[in-house]
Amino acid sequence: MKTIQNTTLSKKDVGKEVHLYGWVAKRRNLGGLLFIDLRDRSGIIQLVIRPEDDCYEVAETLRNEYVISVKGTISLRENPNEKLPTGEIEVNVSEIELLNTSLELPFEISEDTTALEDTRLKYRYLDLRRQRLHDILTLRHHVTMAVRNFLDKEGFLEIETPILCKSTPEGARDYLVPSRVNDGKFYALPQSPQIFKQLLMVGGMEKYFQIAKCFRDEDLRADRQPEFTQIDLEMSFVEEEDVMDVGERLIASLFKEIKGIDISLPLRRMKYDEAMDKYGSDKPDLRFGMEIEDITSIFDDTEISFLKSTIEENGVINAIVAKGVSTKYSRKEIDKLTEYVKTYRASGLVTLKIEDEWSGSIAKLLSEKEKESLKETLHLENNDMVFIISGKREIVKVSLGALRLKLGKDLDLIDPKRYELLWVVDFPSFEYSEEEGRYMACHHPFTAPKDSDIEKLLTDKAHCYSKAYDIVINGYEAGGGSIRIHNQQVQATMFEALGLSEEEIKEKFGFFVDALKYGTPPHGGMAFGLDRLIMLLAGTENIRDVIAFPKTASASCLMSEAPNIVSERQLEELHISLRK
Ligand code: AMO
Repeated sequence: MKTIQNTTLSKKDVGKEVHLYGWVAKRRNLGGLLFIDLRDRSGIIQLVIRPEDDCYEVAETLRNEYVISVKGTISLRENPNEKLPTGEIEVNVSEIELLNTSLELPFEISEDTTALEDTRLKYRYLDLRRQRLHDILTLRHHVTMAVRNFLDKEGFLEIETPILCKSTPEGARDYLVPSRVNDGKFYALPQSPQIFKQLLMVGGMEKYFQIAKCFRDEDLRADRQPEFTQIDLEMSFVEEEDVMDVGERLIASLFKEIKGIDISLPLRRMKYDEAMDKYGSDKPDLRFGMEIEDITSIFDDTEISFLKSTIEENGVINAIVAKGVSTKYSRKEIDKLTEYVKTYRASGLVTLKIEDEWSGSIAKLLSEKEKESLKETLHLENNDMVFIISGKREIVKVSLGALRLKLGKDLDLIDPKRYELLWVVDFPSFEYSEEEGRYMACHHPFTAPKDSDIEKLLTDKAHCYSKAYDIVINGYEAGGGSIRIHNQQVQATMFEALGLSEEEIKEKFGFFVDALKYGTPPHGGMAFGLDRLIMLLAGTENIRDVIAFPKTASASCLMSEAPNIVSERQLEELHISLRK
């Protein structure tokens, strides 16, 4: 058995006989001397083979990615390599056993490989040999171990829940699995263990957790996968404060253990309304400022026609300021930014360059009073650049929020080493769906409303807030949850507020609603996106970097070629015929 990891060896081991195993990462011949970089899971160590050594002949046959076992003695290197943890030493090899050969690789295994991601995903088992991926998967292992230890100490039980389920009221599209033995019926893969964990509370388990696989058939983004992992928890006899307390202590313990970073608790909290108002997002990135300012009132008496009509239509005029960068933006750049905000449904983008002479589309139309007010409200200085969007409040906020993030990145305002964590709290209970022409649940219909808003559920939906909370790290929604409704009367009112009839309730939530009628304790919980947490801890913006075998944006696995076509016979067994 292999007992030594390459990088555990150092100067202290000089003179020691070692038996190492690994892959040939590189082989060089320098004036007859053969140097081999031997790679194992931990990293690289240099092997030296001299022409007079018995094993020289075998060594000469070695190629990249051959698997070998070597015996030798550790000695000091004449020319240390500071970049390697084992850079001060090398192994004088006395024996080599060739354990396996390898085909020539489709791409070089190196950190600065230029191979396309698709090629690397097709040969994921080779890409996994990269140190960076080893490091990330090791980090992921440490995180899950730390999570288990922490929650165990806090009295949580790890309990598994089914993968073949009934559809849950989670909001995304389900992945369906046909049932062979139940003709015409389908299971749904869980979007999260939400219903089961609540049932575990009904079942008296009091504190549950699970590192749970979740499946959602939704449009994929850089931080989304169709199957991903949650650190899922649920607790009985708790209020919002209790869940948030466990959640933030868990996160702080991970930052301490994994990164050695002290996170000061309690975490900052921000109401949803404030987050939308100042950052145009329910997951604000607080690593930089550039807050959204409301400048509507400055234009109360404006002569600028499109701003005038915005105000007449009860819209808003908002701005963000980028300090000292007015010279950086050409007409072309500004056009690009305008196109960018239009993808967020903004009708346009007004810019002002604050130089001795103000310039920009509306500069000449501004009255002196408006200029003075803008200067004062936005604390303008020479060379500042002002970005203004007017229109419907929600569109203005979201598009300026997106522009803020883009400018933050483009202008290098974000320190990548910094972590800014916060809770976003007091989410609205309902959101109005233009499509459906009615109010829908913001989370799910089992999210408890604030006690003070229970009586408004039927009469003033626009002002009802819920006991829901999200944990946001560097602009990512790293987790979220809520206190659930346990009171049957409140649940009935909530269903009524959502316009659900008895039949619809039965059809959608059936057995779950019945279960809640049998002495359900007050309960609540949350789930962290494990993949996103690892992304943040590993410092990558690509979720595929933190998953051993990830899927592409079109939800396929390039390596195994899933999903694929199945045989007629399999379809027949499942009572399925495909539409031609
Ligand atoms: P929610 O849907 O907010 O809550 O999910 C919790 C966390 O899971 C992560 N996440 C994802 N990560 C990668 N890819 C995805 N497609 C994806 N979707 C979500 C996010 C998110 O914050 N049952 C509730 C939790 C609860 O109320 O207890 C739930 O699933 O980091």
